[in-house]
Formats: sequence, structure tokens, C-alpha cells
Amino acid sequence: MSMQSSPSGKKVTVRTVREMKGREPVVMITAYDALFAGIFDPEVEMILVGDSLNMSFYAEPDTLSATLDQMLYHTKAVCKGAHRALIVFDMPFGTYATPEQALENATRVFRETCAEAVKVEGGAEKADVVRILSENGIPVVAHIGLRPQSVRAEGGYRVQGRTEEEAARLIEDALALQQAGAFALLLEGMVSSLASEITRSVEIPTIGIGAGNGTDGQVLVWSDMFGFFEAFKPKFVKRYLEGARLIREGLRQYREEVKNRTFPDAEHSY
Ligand code: KIV
Repeated sequence: MSMQSSPSGKKVTVRTVREMKGREPVVMITAYDALFAGIFDPEVEMILVGDSLNMSFYAEPDTLSATLDQMLYHTKAVCKGAHRALIVFDMPFGTYATPEQALENATRVFRETCAEAVKVEGGAEKADVVRILSENGIPVVAHIGLRPQSVRAEGGYRVQGRTEEEAARLIEDALALQQAGAFALLLEGMVSSLASEITRSVEIPTIGIGAGNGTDGQVLVWSDMFGFFEAFKPKFVKRYLEGARLIREGLRQYREEVKNRTFPDAEHSY
């Protein structure tokens, strides 16, 4: 398979993603509605309905107040727009505190939406959660490193793996989560050399965000990478578009044309 292969129309499954390790980088992006999911779907392998929507689209200070119902609502919309990419449901804070609670809530996700996997944040301490979900037909992406749902416990967002102890713990976490059945790992906010080492240490694909270039794939939050979320820009975000600026330019032109009565013109009238 070529490293620059253009996306095929074939449905991406958990198996496809697993088989991409070592062959071709996995492209993942977030989406929260049908319109944008439909635009992204042909170009990416995975779509994450991330709880980051709580910050970028609901203007909350963190992800902690996202609810299961809110995530279900957005995932149903994404399912209407995306039919090819693998859709991953981000389990919100407080919905997978125990294996039993995780299974009950993730079962609801699978019954009510087209999601094909769920994502949970946590290290080895979440192995039981990952195991019960995986054993019950619910594929899991395990999210380690900087975990946004732990922002209050950590006292902020901090790049992980800067000390030897922390790096060793993260490698242990990765191995424990793989052992528990996770089919992929999401590595967020960690030093690049550690993310590369974790990637080499596990057989499952790693998807990085703020974790350097040595992972098996990358994910970005769409409103960050296309310049719609302007409140702040972490170092790892590359802006591929200045979306908010483009919208403002278009909007100003529209406003001007309405004010000076040049819109609608004959071409746009019946
Ligand atoms: O919620 C989200 O969008 C995420 C990404 C930061 C990976 O978890």
C-alpha cells in the first residue's frame, strides 16, 4: 500500500485500522454533526465524536460537563453523514467509572447509534473497563497521556512523560490496555520520543495528538485545525485553514451587499 494512497470507498473497520499498523498512517479527525462528517468521511479512516465538542461548540471551560445524552445526539448526527470512516464514540466523564457502568452505557451507545468503537481515558487502572467492553463486542480505543477529563485532578493540562518514572508508567499503561483488549491507543500530549517508544512496544496502532510524528496515525480536532476555534491554540495544532477569518470575510461581504441592496441581484432572484 502506498504511503500516499488516496482514500478508497471501502468501509473502514476495526480490522482495517489494526492492519494499517506499520503500513500506512491512520488519519483521524473529530466531527460532531452530519454536514461536516459527510465532508470528512471520504478523506479519513476514523471519525471521533469527541467530548471536545463541549469546549469548542458549547463554550464550556473543559470537557467534564459533557453528558451521555449530548454525545449520543451528536453521534446520531455524525452517523447520518459518514458511512465509510470508522466512527468512535468518546465516553464522557463519569460514564465509565466501573466496568458495569461502562458496559451499560456503551451498550446504549451501540444500540442507539452507528458507532463502531468507544474511547475511554485512563491507564492500567482502566484495564477492567477495557476488558469488559472488548469481551462484549465493543471495541475500545484507550486514551493515555494527557487526559482532558483529568484536568481538575491534574490542576491543568500538562505534557506527559518528561520524567523516567512517568515514561515507564505510560509504557506499562499501554501494555496493560493492549493486554485488556484495546484495539488502538490514543496518545495525547506526550514527548515524541516516548510516543514513538510506546508505538514500537505495542502491536496495536497508536493515534497521536500532540505526540509527535512517530505514532501510527494522527488525530486533530476539526475546529482547531481549520481555525474556527480561536480561544487558544495549543502548540501541536497546525491550522490548515483560517476558517473563522474566511467566515467573517464572507459575512462582511453579505452584510455590505444587503445594506447597499446589491444582494439579491437578478441572478439570485425569481
Ligand atoms: O474529545 C476529543 O476530541 C479528543 C481528542 C482531543 C483526541 O479526545
